[in-house]
Amino acid sequence: MKFLVILLFSGFITDCRGNSSSVLPPKLLLVSFDGFRADYLQNYEFPHLQNFIKEGVLVEHVKNVFITKTFPNHYSIVTGLYEESHGIVANSMYDAATKKHFSDFNDKDPFWWNEAVPIWVTNQLQENRSSAAAMWPGTDVLIHNTTPSYFMNYSPSVSFRERLNNVTMWLNNSSPPVTFATLYWEEPDASGHKYGPEDKENMSRVLREIDDHVGDLVQRLKMLGLWENLNVIITSDHGMAQCSQSRVINLGRCLDPSAYTIIDLTPIAAILPKINITMVYNKLKMCDPHLNVYLREDIPERFYYRHNDRIQPIILVADEGWTIVLNESSPKLGDHGYDNSLPSMHPFLAAHGPAFHKGYKHSTINSVDIYPMMCHILGLKPQPNNGTFGHTKCLLVDQWCINLPEAIGIVIGALLILTTLTCLIIILQNRLSVPRPFSRLQLQEEDDDPLIG
Ligand SMILES: *[C@@H]1O[C@H](CO)[C@@H](O)[C@H](O)[C@H]1NC(C)=O
Ligand SMILES: *[C@@H]1O[C@H](CO)[C@@H](O)[C@H](O)[C@H]1NC(C)=O
Ligand SMILES: *[C@@H]1O[C@H](CO)[C@@H](O)[C@H](O)[C@H]1NC(C)=O
Ligand SMILES: *[C@@H]1O[C@H](CO)[C@@H](O)[C@H](O)[C@H]1NC(C)=O
Ligand SMILES: *[C@@H]1O[C@H](CO)[C@@H](O)[C@H](O)[C@H]1NC(C)=O
Ligand SMILES: *[C@@H]1O[C@H](CO)[C@@H](O)[C@H](O)[C@H]1NC(C)=O
Ligand SMILES: *[C@@H]1O[C@H](CO)[C@@H](O)[C@H](O)[C@H]1NC(C)=O
Ligand SMILES: *[C@@H]1O[C@H](CO)[C@@H](O)[C@H](O)[C@H]1NC(C)=O
Ligand SMILES: [Zn+2]
Repeated sequence: MKFLVILLFSGFITDCRGNSSSVLPPKLLLVSFDGFRADYLQNYEFPHLQNFIKEGVLVEHVKNVFITKTFPNHYSIVTGLYEESHGIVANSMYDAATKKHFSDFNDKDPFWWNEAVPIWVTNQLQENRSSAAAMWPGTDVLIHNTTPSYFMNYSPSVSFRERLNNVTMWLNNSSPPVTFATLYWEEPDASGHKYGPEDKENMSRVLREIDDHVGDLVQRLKMLGLWENLNVIITSDHGMAQCSQSRVINLGRCLDPSAYTIIDLTPIAAILPKINITMVYNKLKMCDPHLNVYLREDIPERFYYRHNDRIQPIILVADEGWTIVLNESSPKLGDHGYDNSLPSMHPFLAAHGPAFHKGYKHSTINSVDIYPMMCHILGLKPQPNNGTFGHTKCLLVDQWCINLPEAIGIVIGALLILTTLTCLIIILQNRLSVPRPFSRLQLQEEDDDPLIG
């Protein structure tokens, strides 16, 4: 009895020591280079990023969420929710009940964001932890009455260097410690729109600059002594498709503009008919073979883009590389927003740090899977979400994972061994039981031998 008490007590003491000896809490920096199409990694040179990947993990394709636009996808990464569930269903939105408008320059009303709880808010609800943001859609908005403890108001004119310097300062010395931080950069999206992803000459220049930014990031983390203990995820919101002057869908040709209001135009148009939905729908349906026209209730299931009042009654989805216009205006050379099953719309994900394997490559995850993985790394209880933690287990050092080919290999291997054993047993049994006459014959032959010798 005494012994038992001592045992329990000593266990209690070691527990306390493990807790109070200031074991550093895990830290995570989440970086997004907007519009970084997955196959840029194969088609362009990234010496710094490839070094980062060599010591960490790479997911070659991240299947993002429909519509493949900036605000919706950045919010899915930090909430693990499809757009219909987190409420940021486009870069331009209209809410009929409140008559409110949302756009990338008018995004500060918490009304739009409060349908979900982003990870930086959840992180700060933990005792003694804070979050920091060198931009990321939503980080300068009071979501559930909370901003990150340290953040910047969105401004495209703040240089990458300044964002990097300030966010690493926050990560380096603050109390309570910053355990989750974001870093957002507008390129290569802006140049992808301007030149088109197939303009090798201009895009290689732009992507070299991105790679230099990755180099600066790693160098700065090393200089501050953060590199070994900080987990860093580098990813993006969507890819980029090549567009052209010759692939244009002119809505103005099909329907009188007075019949509807355009909430969002291209390549996914959100249409609010003024009076007669059926009439507008029927006319748009005949408009162009490269335009897919859906009533909200008929939007394909796989888009998970239906159950939210901010999704307008009619949605138009242009085919890859096609641009919807209202008049003869000329399209950009690159765009995104299209069907999220298109590889050109997918970004990649790379990660480095104590939570991740070194030198591991993985083919694909969903962008909604990133959230439960981040919560696991930070030791946070995730909010209800649409991600699957199991999809990311192979990336993490503290998880046991078998991928499908390995599992199939093991099953086939086991079957082969079983079959071989069974055959051996049958053969042995046959040898022992059936060919008695033979063995006698052999014996006789052997008996003869000494005579010959
Ligand atoms: C141990 O951790 C728990 C929860 O994380 C915390 O409430 C408690 O104060 C910690 N104890 C010490 C001695 O730091
Ligand atoms: C970055 O930090 C510097 C120094 O503290 C400060 O002067 C500057 O305003 C910060 N930049 C932004 C965009 O917050
Ligand atoms: C970063 O933090 C370390 C340890 O707290 C400190 O020694 C160092 O001076 C800090 N660096 C900067 C640039 O603040
Ligand atoms: C919170 O963090 C500060 C600074 O890191 C530390 O001094 C303090 O003991 C922590 N408090 C708790 C309750 O863990
Ligand atoms: C693309 O790059 C070339 C050569 O650097 C330059 O002459 C051209 O103006 C660029 N294209 C655009 C659209 O700026
Ligand atoms: C709406 O338009 C359809 C087709 O043009 C027509 O059949 C229907 O009567 C109209 N409904 C109303 C309420 O105007
Ligand atoms: C064409 O449409 C754009 C908006 O998409 C508008 O700004 C522009 O004034 C229109 N031009 C003409 C000639 O109607
Ligand atoms: C996504 O997750 C939310 C929150 O748990 C849930 O309400 C919603 O039904 C889920 N969506 C799908 C398609 O499972
Ligand atoms: Zn974007």
